[in-house]
Order: sequence, then structure tokens, then C-alpha cells
Amino acid sequence: MIHTTLADHAKTIQKINLRKAFQEDQNRFQKFSASFENQILLDYSKNLITDETMTLLLQWAKEAHLKEKINAMMQGEKINTTENRAVLHTALRNRDNHPIYVDGKDVMPEINRVLEQMHHFSDQVRDGSWKGATGKAVTDVVNIGIGGSDLGPAMAHDALAFYRIDSLRFHFVSNVDGTDIAETLKKCNPETTLFIISSKTFTTQETLTNAQTARNWVVQKLGEKAIEKHFVAVSTNTEGVKAFGINPENMFIFWDFVGGRYSLWSAIGLSLMIGIGYTRFTEMLAGAHAMDKHFQEMPFEKNLPVILGIIGAWYASYLGAESYAVLPYDQYLHRLPAYLQQLDMESNGKSVQKTGNAVTLSTGPVLFGAAGTNGQHSFYQLIHQGTHLIPTDFIAPVFSLNEAVGQHDILLANFIAQPEALMTGKTADELRAQGVDEKLIPFRTFSGNRPSNTILIEKITPYTFGALIALYEHKVFTEGVLWNVNSFDQFGVELGKQLAKNVLTELIDSSQPLHHDSSTNALIQTVRQKRNVLKHK
Ligand code: F6P
Repeated sequence: MIHTTLADHAKTIQKINLRKAFQEDQNRFQKFSASFENQILLDYSKNLITDETMTLLLQWAKEAHLKEKINAMMQGEKINTTENRAVLHTALRNRDNHPIYVDGKDVMPEINRVLEQMHHFSDQVRDGSWKGATGKAVTDVVNIGIGGSDLGPAMAHDALAFYRIDSLRFHFVSNVDGTDIAETLKKCNPETTLFIISSKTFTTQETLTNAQTARNWVVQKLGEKAIEKHFVAVSTNTEGVKAFGINPENMFIFWDFVGGRYSLWSAIGLSLMIGIGYTRFTEMLAGAHAMDKHFQEMPFEKNLPVILGIIGAWYASYLGAESYAVLPYDQYLHRLPAYLQQLDMESNGKSVQKTGNAVTLSTGPVLFGAAGTNGQHSFYQLIHQGTHLIPTDFIAPVFSLNEAVGQHDILLANFIAQPEALMTGKTADELRAQGVDEKLIPFRTFSGNRPSNTILIEKITPYTFGALIALYEHKVFTEGVLWNVNSFDQFGVELGKQLAKNVLTELIDSSQPLHHDSSTNALIQTVRQKRNVLKHK
């Protein structure tokens, strides 16, 4: 019923003129804005919405049992039904430490234990008391991981670089392309390098391959015994870690109730804790925890993740938006779009409902973005004048961490002007009044009515950063509930991995017959031939 109503309403909303809507309702901003602790302001007034839209979208959330499902997640119910797992990244930042039960057992004591283990270890690396095999302190920390075991810590390291210790260098190696590890090792000295092998499963081809290369590099220079001083692991798989040769005492565990793309808050954040220190790491957890409480307790009309989620679903499912741009006007947040790509697209890139039936609505859009103002000089043309509807999120801090440089007003002016330009556009009459040549008018007209959210953060601190990331996690959760998909599995990444294994054996052993389609066969043949020629040169 709600879906028929929303589909009908979508036809009406196509006729909305946002510029007029603002003229007719002086309260539009007051009505369509909400804030989190006076630290994060969400202005969603420049969206293709009316009062009726919001009422209907909130009705959708109600009918989808969003409230009950938020509680189910936070209480440790096994909402990841295809993998029969609880989803408890929120427990990792449960700073008021209330008990959370999975299978009748409170998970908090173990979470706190690992946090303390990270605290102790990160302090030692930071103050130089953790020594390498030759007695020297660490100068370089290399996180080897991929997907959630890389994107979260790498993005957060850049986001919180202002707060990072100066005496250590940090590197992130993810790609199985040997260039990634090779270029990193060139910058490091084995005597003073610490490798953190981060892998939830400890079976991921890329991570284990890079880890093996790093291991060989250390062993070659310092001998086998050096492993225990130069390698630590973050994983759920103790046996895998042992088999790799890392002492389980140097292992930081996490649990299957933490999804890879939600694991920044776990020991996967170890490199971050070494960078910013325990206290700031826990401030980040506190910010995320405060957003968790906001998500759970705030009425939906004032609930930031819910508002972002219902509006996101509105565009994807009813207004035909196939993409979505996240545009942080903050250089520290330049990797946020890449991080959100995994969070959003791996979570909600689904076409089957939790029931096993096909979805009846379009689900997660293609997410892209770049730091402002850089994006303005590359892809914004399409957002302003292209044929696609691209909802956007603009994000910026009111205060820069580098105020002294004196450029922040210019950045903020662009940040505020872009959503205004997208919304108001420019009419042919306005161009004529400016004396624009009639022939150029079609080219210089801006349709306007292009929607955006504006997220204004007081300042980037570990606390507000934690809250911001949790905001997006819960936005993605909200959308997943509306679409009734399981946002916590990722079977879509499996097929390519399996086929790559077959191809690998065929590339290595060129006597193997090929039974693929003609394109795949020809590609394998070409690579075989060219590499054989090289071998025999
Ligand atoms: O390929 C997808 C994926 O499973 C992600 O979900 C995950 O974050 C990444 O691979 C890395 O997995 P792991 O931490 O187990 O190495």
C-alpha cells in the first residue's frame, strides 16, 4: 500500500520547483534540518521532498519495522540471517559498557580486554619501548589488509592525520599487484618496521600474498626469529595466524559479529590507535557511540541517519537515481568516498530480499565522490548539467584544523555555493537579463532542482569523525531495512575470486586445456604467449 502511494507521490514530486518551494515557505530550512549534539547539522531542505514526502517516507520506515530492527541489531540478535550472525560493530564502541549478549554470553568483557591489549601495545610502539629484533624502536608501521581491513584504517588515518604522532610513518598495502608492497618496502628498513597483518578471515589471497612477501623480506634480512618482533596479526582466525608463523600472543582478535566493512572500531583499527593514541581512539569510539544512541533513541523526524536513509531510498527506489555523490569539503576526509563505496555498495548492492525473493524496488546506488573543491573541476559538470539525477551529500567542517593558513572561508564559500547552484539553477530569462548571447542560452542554462544534503560539522575531531562514520553506517542500515535486504553479507564478491583461482592455475601451467568462452580463452592464450616469449628471451 505505502509503495503504491509513494509511486504516485513520486509522479507529483517530479513537478516540484525547489526554488519556488523556498520562496513559498520561509521555514523550509527549519523544517527540513536536524542536528546531532550541536556538532553536526544536517540540512536536507534542498531535496526533492515536501511535508507529504517526509510523512510517507516515515510511514515506509514504520511499516518496515525500522525501530524494532535497530533494537534487534543493537541487542545482538542474529540479523545477518544468511550467515547466522549477530551484527555488533556498535558493541565495539559501547562506551557505557552495558552488557550485550550473543548466544547468552556478554560480549563486552572480551571487547574491553582486546581494547586494553591494543592500548598496551600501541603505547609501547608509540613510546619506542617495543623493540625490533635488533633492539631498535619502530619507525614504520605497515598495515597489510584489503577491503574493510584496509579502507577503514587508511581512511581514518588521513581523516585524523592532524592528531597523529609525528615520529612514526604509516603505510597501507592492499593490492595484490606486487608494486604496492614493493614500493612500500623500498621506503622501509626491516630493523625498524612493524607489519600488522589485518584480515578477518586470514584466508584472503591478496593479504596473505603480501604478508608472505613482507615475511620473506624480514626473514632474508633478519632471520626467522625476527618474525615475532616485526609481525602482529588482527583476525578472527587464530589457527590461520599460527599457521602463518605469528605468535598468537601477538594477535589481536575480533569476532564474527563484526563485518569487515564495519571493523574500523575493532582491532582492525590498531594502526590508527598507534597513530593517534589510545585516548583519541576512544574519543572516536565515544563519538560513534553517541551517534548509536541518537539512532536508537531520537524520534525519526529528528534522527539524522534515518532522515539520510529514507531520502536515499526515495531517490534510488522512486525517483530513478542510479548514483549518489559524497563530496567532503575537507582534505582530511578525501578518502571518505572510497571508504563509503565499500560500506554502501557492499552492504546494499543486493537484488534479493531477506525472504529470498527478488527485490521489487531499485536498491543501492553507485556511490562516487572526491574532496571539494577538486571535484568541481572534474565531474561536477555532469551533476549540474547532465541528464542523470545525482543526489549529493556535501560535508564540511565550520572550523578548519589549519585556520592559520587562512583559506577556509574560500573553501566554505564553495561548499555553500555549490548546493545553492544545484538547487536554484539559472533560467534563460536570467541569462537574457544579463545580456548573454541568445545562441548561447541553451548551453548556459542550468535546470536547477538538483538535490543535495548539506552536512556541517563543527570541527573534525576524533569524536565528530566517529559520529560521522556511524551516521553513514546507520544510513546504510536504514536503507537496507527499507529494501528488506541483508546489508551484512557479500556473496557477490565470491564468484570472481573463485574463477580467478582457476585462471591462475591455467596461467601458471600452460599445458592445461582451456574451456572458457572464446574471449576468456583468447585472453589467457595471449598472456601465456607473451609471458613465455619473455621467459625465453
Ligand atoms: O572481498 C570482500 C571482503 O570479504 C570484504 O568484505 C572484506 O572487508 C575484505 O574482503 C577483506 O576480508 P578479510 O578481512 O577477511 O581479509
